[in-house]
Amino acid sequence: MRKNIVAGNWKMNNDLAQTQELIADLKKQVSADPAATIIVAPTYTNLYPAFKALKDTPISVAAQNMHQNANGAFTGEISAAMLKSVGVETVILGHSERRAYFKESNELLAEKVNTALENDMTVIFCFGEELEDRKADKHFDLVQSQLKESLYHLSKESWKNIILAYEPVWAIGTGETASPEQAQEMHAFIRKSVADAYGSEIAEEVSILYGGSCKPGNAKEIFANKDVDGGLIGGASLKAEDFLAIVNSF
Ligand code: G3P
Repeated sequence: MRKNIVAGNWKMNNDLAQTQELIADLKKQVSADPAATIIVAPTYTNLYPAFKALKDTPISVAAQNMHQNANGAFTGEISAAMLKSVGVETVILGHSERRAYFKESNELLAEKVNTALENDMTVIFCFGEELEDRKADKHFDLVQSQLKESLYHLSKESWKNIILAYEPVWAIGTGETASPEQAQEMHAFIRKSVADAYGSEIAEEVSILYGGSCKPGNAKEIFANKDVDGGLIGGASLKAEDFLAIVNSF
């Protein structure tokens, strides 16, 4: 049964005190039986305190990135094993900001996905087109190449640890949300792409999240689409009431 998931990508926000404050608000307001699986992704320095504070709640933590190697001379980097050692079982990979600012290619992301799966982690894999791709009607081709080059080498078995997150880059942080029709059209394309590569059973099981200016005011309409299984939330995840309003939008 495909899971409804709402994940909050906190990006480079919140020091330790601010993280503890946001988590306290989440704990006060979260339902004991939420309408979706809830994940939050603090920065590296806040992961362990967040993991400990959220342990007995319906909210789990994810990392926003990780290195593809197990260890070594990679100053500033963090390995899968280090994340696992502080209770982190899920990692976001391929976010457009990693692709843009840190030049993470589809090939490098394939290596990161492999390392995460080898460490029994769950991957929230991000992908999505730029506005010029969409204007040139190349957005489906672009998304297909991102999926094929980073994921379609995986075994069928691996897909139980994959969550897909379609994030049209032109909607991220802009307030310019994809319309529910645009979201459903691309999510249906993605699900068919996975079905063509792995069969309909796996395609029907994989959760496909939408990300890009998803807010309490538009989440219900977006999540109502049959191929949208939740959201990867940026800005609106930094306020407990807004984030949980999105969780309650199913
Ligand atoms: O990873 C989620 C993020 O990219 C979406 O950001 O602020 O548009 O919800 P935002």
